[in-house]
Amino acid sequence: MNKNNNSICPRLFLAPMEGLGDRPFRRMMALVGGFDEATTEFLRVPKNAHIPSLSKKYQSDELSPIPLCCQIMGDNPDLIAEMTKAVIDRGAPRVELNCGCPSNTVVGRGAGSSLLKDPEHLNKILTAMVSVATVPVSAKLRSGYEDTSLFEENLCAVQEAGVAFMTLHPRTKREAYKPPAHWDLIARAKQLLQIPVIGNGDILNAQDAMRMLRETNCDGLMIGRGAVANPWIFHEIRSQFEQEQEIFSFEKFENILLAYLSYLYDEALTTKTCINKFKQLSHYFFQRTPSLMERRKEILRQRPETPESFLKDILKALKDEYSSLALA
Ligand SMILES: Cc1cc2nc3c(=O)[nH]c(=O)nc-3n(C[C@H](O)[C@H](O)[C@H](O)COP(=O)(O)O)c2cc1C
Repeated sequence: MNKNNNSICPRLFLAPMEGLGDRPFRRMMALVGGFDEATTEFLRVPKNAHIPSLSKKYQSDELSPIPLCCQIMGDNPDLIAEMTKAVIDRGAPRVELNCGCPSNTVVGRGAGSSLLKDPEHLNKILTAMVSVATVPVSAKLRSGYEDTSLFEENLCAVQEAGVAFMTLHPRTKREAYKPPAHWDLIARAKQLLQIPVIGNGDILNAQDAMRMLRETNCDGLMIGRGAVANPWIFHEIRSQFEQEQEIFSFEKFENILLAYLSYLYDEALTTKTCINKFKQLSHYFFQRTPSLMERRKEILRQRPETPESFLKDILKALKDEYSSLALA
């Protein structure tokens, strides 16, 4: 692949991922580095929300010095504006509205991707956020709810509200995570809008990243599951633009997983939850090769009893796999 020595690496974002990209995961990713910003999983603002206590869930210095945007979700403009102010008071460098969550509990309450059914209301919520914000406001969208019939109206509603930029995950709510993500819609958003558009969806390696930039002309990249599968993905993308020093080694993988375990313990999670977290994480990064998937099955069959023993088995499998291979 050609290096892009004459161009600058676009801004790279670690995607919000409720349940998967939680605080321990984000802290682990901060050790690896390579991305410019991260975003929390959505903080839902229900109708009866007590904003001062809810906003305490957000901790702005969690990844310091990496900026951590606070993502919020809800459908009431006044409450969302109040929450925006509250998290800014707690140091949020940016506040984002979730307009993409497909979960039925969420959309049943009019939030997340169901905001895409009503561009006018979407505009109202974002305008309310922008009117109280002293930091940039952004929006993260899917391409529609049932279909893309309101796609352009929604994009315009977002831009007209005065947000700093938007991120597009180009699937409808109905499509959930079904492949492929429709990158042509990112290109369409870029043609239509003046505000920056961050492209997201199915970037699994540096080649995908370069292809998304080429095919859509987007202004930045957001990566979620690809970073769980390969925490070094941001460095691999950077190496297409810059002299990149960070090289993967098994020892580094071992170190970040040990750190991850200590971050899980910081959250005072139960043994069972910690084991489940390792199950979830290994599901992604063992997908890299069929033999690792087999090893993962074997490990699970033995029903690991402690997070330490599970981690030891994971590390042994990774060491065997990568002792003679570079990960990239
Ligand atoms: C487990 C999981 C949880 C997610 N939670 C959120 C969330 O809280 N807020 C949000 O805007 N998107 C959320 N997403 C969507 C991702 O941010 C991203 O848009 C999507 O996964 C596509 O990008 P990817 O292919 O790089 O993973 C979630 C995705 C997954 C897989």
